[in-house]
Amino acid sequence: MKFVVSVLFSLVLFSCASAYDPLDPSGNITIKWDVMSWTPDGYVAVVTINNFQMYRHIMNPGWTLGWTWAKKEVIWSMVGAQTTEQGDCSKFKGNIPHCCKKTPTVVDLLPGVPYNQQYANCCKGGVIPAWGQDPLGAVSQFQVSIGQAGTSNKTVKLPKNFTLLGPGPGYTCGPAKVVPSTTFLTSDRRRKTQALMTWNVTCTYSQFLARKNPSCCVSFSSFYNETITPCPSCACGCQDKSNCVKSHSKILNMVGVNTPRKDNTPLIQCTRHMCPIRVHWHVKLNYKDYWRVKISITNFNYRMNYSLWTLAVQHPNLNNVTQVFSFDYKPVVPYESINDTGMFYGLKYYNDVLMEAGPFGNAQSEVLLQKDKETFTFKQGWAFPRRVYFNGDECMLPPPDTYPFLPNSANQKELLSFTIFTSAVLVLLSIIW
Ligand SMILES: *[C@@H]1O[C@H](CO)[C@@H](O)[C@H](O)[C@H]1NC(C)=O
Ligand SMILES: *[C@@H]1O[C@H](CO)[C@@H](O)[C@H](O)[C@H]1NC(C)=O
Ligand SMILES: *[C@@H]1O[C@H](CO)[C@@H](O)[C@H](O)[C@H]1NC(C)=O
Ligand SMILES: *[C@@H]1O[C@H](CO)[C@@H](O)[C@H](O)[C@H]1NC(C)=O
Ligand SMILES: *[C@@H]1O[C@H](CO)[C@@H](O)[C@H](O)[C@H]1NC(C)=O
Ligand SMILES: *[C@@H]1O[C@H](CO)[C@@H](O)[C@H](O)[C@H]1NC(C)=O
Ligand SMILES: *[C@@H]1O[C@H](CO)[C@@H](O)[C@H](O)[C@H]1NC(C)=O
Ligand SMILES: *[C@@H]1O[C@H](CO)[C@@H](O)[C@H](O)[C@H]1NC(C)=O
Repeated sequence: MKFVVSVLFSLVLFSCASAYDPLDPSGNITIKWDVMSWTPDGYVAVVTINNFQMYRHIMNPGWTLGWTWAKKEVIWSMVGAQTTEQGDCSKFKGNIPHCCKKTPTVVDLLPGVPYNQQYANCCKGGVIPAWGQDPLGAVSQFQVSIGQAGTSNKTVKLPKNFTLLGPGPGYTCGPAKVVPSTTFLTSDRRRKTQALMTWNVTCTYSQFLARKNPSCCVSFSSFYNETITPCPSCACGCQDKSNCVKSHSKILNMVGVNTPRKDNTPLIQCTRHMCPIRVHWHVKLNYKDYWRVKISITNFNYRMNYSLWTLAVQHPNLNNVTQVFSFDYKPVVPYESINDTGMFYGLKYYNDVLMEAGPFGNAQSEVLLQKDKETFTFKQGWAFPRRVYFNGDECMLPPPDTYPFLPNSANQKELLSFTIFTSAVLVLLSIIW
């Protein structure tokens, strides 16, 4: 029974979360095209990719943007990005376009390209930080010159069927929509100019589209009970168990074993949970007016240094965070009246890179929270987080009936019936949804 309830609970939890992101409901990536000039056979546009997601960044190896031309457009040239294939330009003589494909695929340039190929906010290898982490840096731009296209706002046809890989699947993009033209201020701020025409495309993320299984899990412990509640077993799927590596395996000494694959296939240390990332939440100390939590993140992937990582956590007491050690912290306020979510991220040059699996593959922080006397309790797992996201993907929590108990308080039977009740409510909710 306990098992069934737990499985039900985690299934429901995971499937609800995949519909949209409840902790960042307005998070999206916006792709904006500003037509800067009309040319004899087309136009020059500046394309801006803004990441408006609070805690989900585009990590290495970066974004890939694609679309379908509405007519017979070609790309004469690009600055600050390139298409991955030129396509068939055989009908051109003399001036050869940069790309003649009907569905061009564009990627960012790598850092350090010659100055004349750069554009503002370009050339970061397609990496875009999360909005909550670096609002000024959460942007990528390039310039594109298009031929065989409309040459006025009456004849231009908007590109269709936008696709965004960031870097894997997960994003769905809506249609391009003409919006009021962007205005620009000159650098001395004394003159305003305006794009000739602007259209926007909005892309949103769904973890369900990105992957079958979670990619992280959470374990718990507390000072008041010596039980350590581990990650649920097979939290991230067990089908790859043959591909995992034991931590003392000789393979790990081979040269190149840490080299990332193009498709980012992980090389995971064999564990019961089989997750590349584990987050551990330890309720460490209880003071009169405060309590203290220790958070540790462990990387079990031998082929990944997680740079620019983020950890988003939902817990009712995050409205009263007093101090955070070793990590940066920022409250995330998804619904203005509820302030129960925050994001943690690494300090630059100190622990913003979560090293590949091994002795340095973890980062730790302590959080001091002020108790709200009305709601604070160690009973019924209250001290543990409600949701945890690593790099914008929801982590699997242990089933509620395995949380460390406060001795002599919540008795097992009560908690189990509470669990059954909440699961039933959640199932109902998900049916209604
Ligand atoms: C995209 O995100 C921005 C910033 O959060 C928000 O203002 C805008 O409404 C969002 N757009 C859509 C279509 O959700
Ligand atoms: C279009 O995208 C830009 C960001 O690239 C955003 O500032 C603007 O609000 C968007 N316009 C609309 C109407 O969504
Ligand atoms: C097209 O440009 C004309 C002026 O050149 C302007 O009056 C009109 O509103 C524009 N139409 C659109 C759809 O932007
Ligand atoms: C949109 O693009 C995707 C991927 O490039 C492709 O599979 C799909 O057929 C396209 N749809 C249309 C209507 O062009
Ligand atoms: C991670 O970073 C270290 C130090 O910069 C480097 O030696 C190692 O090769 C990197 N590992 C991967 C998987 O990129
Ligand atoms: C949310 O809580 C944080 C402390 O964790 C506080 O600094 C912030 O002002 C709160 N925001 C709102 C809107 O209440
Ligand atoms: C933080 O806790 C104190 C003490 O319980 C309380 O007075 C205050 O209102 C709390 N702050 C917030 C933002 O809830
Ligand atoms: C600690 O919590 C576990 C549940 O995870 C429970 O079975 C055990 O009885 C608790 N220990 C004490 C001393 O209460």
